[in-house]
Amino acid sequence: MRMVDLILKKRDGGTLTAEDIRFFIDGVVRGTIPDYQVSALLMAIFFRGMDDGEVAALTEAMTHSGDVIDLSGIPGVKVDKHSTGGVGDKTTLIALPLAAACGVRSAKMSGRGLGHTGGTIDKLEAIPGFRTALSKEALIRQVERVGFAVVGQTEGLVPADKVLYALRDVTGTVESIPLIASSIMSKKLAGGADAIVLDVKVGRGAFMPDLERARTLAAAMVAIGRRLGKKTHALLTAMDQPLGRDVGNANEVREAIDVLRGGGPDDLVELTSAVAAEMVFVAGLAPTRDAALESVRRARQSGAALERFRAFVEAQGGDGRVVDDPEHVLPTPAYREAIVAHEDGYVTALDARRVGEAAMRAGAGRATKDAAIDLAAGVHLEKKIGDAVRRGEVLATIFATRKVPEDARRALSEAYTIGRARVGAPPIVYETVADA
Ligand code: URA
Repeated sequence: MRMVDLILKKRDGGTLTAEDIRFFIDGVVRGTIPDYQVSALLMAIFFRGMDDGEVAALTEAMTHSGDVIDLSGIPGVKVDKHSTGGVGDKTTLIALPLAAACGVRSAKMSGRGLGHTGGTIDKLEAIPGFRTALSKEALIRQVERVGFAVVGQTEGLVPADKVLYALRDVTGTVESIPLIASSIMSKKLAGGADAIVLDVKVGRGAFMPDLERARTLAAAMVAIGRRLGKKTHALLTAMDQPLGRDVGNANEVREAIDVLRGGGPDDLVELTSAVAAEMVFVAGLAPTRDAALESVRRARQSGAALERFRAFVEAQGGDGRVVDDPEHVLPTPAYREAIVAHEDGYVTALDARRVGEAAMRAGAGRATKDAAIDLAAGVHLEKKIGDAVRRGEVLATIFATRKVPEDARRALSEAYTIGRARVGAPPIVYETVADA
């Protein structure tokens, strides 16, 4: 088989066979296909697309390009959860203990933040002592005992994606639905879960700017799950403004604990309850979505989910007192600055991307892969879309261990649009995409 023939086939609108695709992925991982030919095929896929069979074959070949985790030793249905990334997205920290308290088992691999979006692993490292690397045996024991574990992604998982993503990033081929869907789903499938719940973010702060494209991506991932025998459900959820009121690391952990204690902002409660309920439903632990939602509500109100969170933190070496006294256990910032409204009116828009950039510039995120971050840095939003504001009133606070840079303050201030016309709070969950 010659790589140039695969490029020509796809360039001319043909369909790649599973054998073609295995040859391609094998060559990518072994380094026997030069980057220019890999890139040429990626561009041909970008313009010509792939049918469901090709995307499933690509995902399967990528999944088996490295280690595949075997969770079959853990009794029960193991459900993984994935978010396509957003600002203030602390969903994993809340949805996993909620679902675990309802009987779901999850062994989740998470990433670090890059650019304007945060990462769950960074957030968890704000808890003193928390370890994000566990041996496979420790991971399995913890999932059996506590119900869930969250660890950093291992090096050997889907090596093909590392090569392809790096090339996509520099060849203008990131925004291809088959390539995104196979990239995400191969990592989920290699993670070993029986079923998958996807939180596909839509809006200015997200990868998918509009509902139509997000719907297409979700349908592509659900179809991959169907073909490869893993039940996959996707929720399409809003990411125009940040989720909840906190963006950063330590402050997001504090907000997650607030929700598990029965408080927290409405949008965050609604989204995390919907994600946890979908995990319960896809695992077959409730007959309907409404019943699943009711179990999740009880797990939150009774404190059962909070106790799962405490057990999880302690099992991974963290200080469990964070649950009762987050203020004293988590790192605190030395500097705070408020952003105020310059006129009376209503918040009509709050640009999630700009808020994420503000938090990153204050030190909460990283511009390059290996940069250090300030776990105490972040943003707290006093006002969100639909809130009335008076001139001089505080819109948001930005904080850090060191003095907050001017560009961070400016980004936060520019994130707000204040208008005269009253607008309502936007919806948080748009729709669910799943097989009937
Ligand atoms: N997230 C991924 O893991 N892969 C993509 O291609 C896009 C988003």
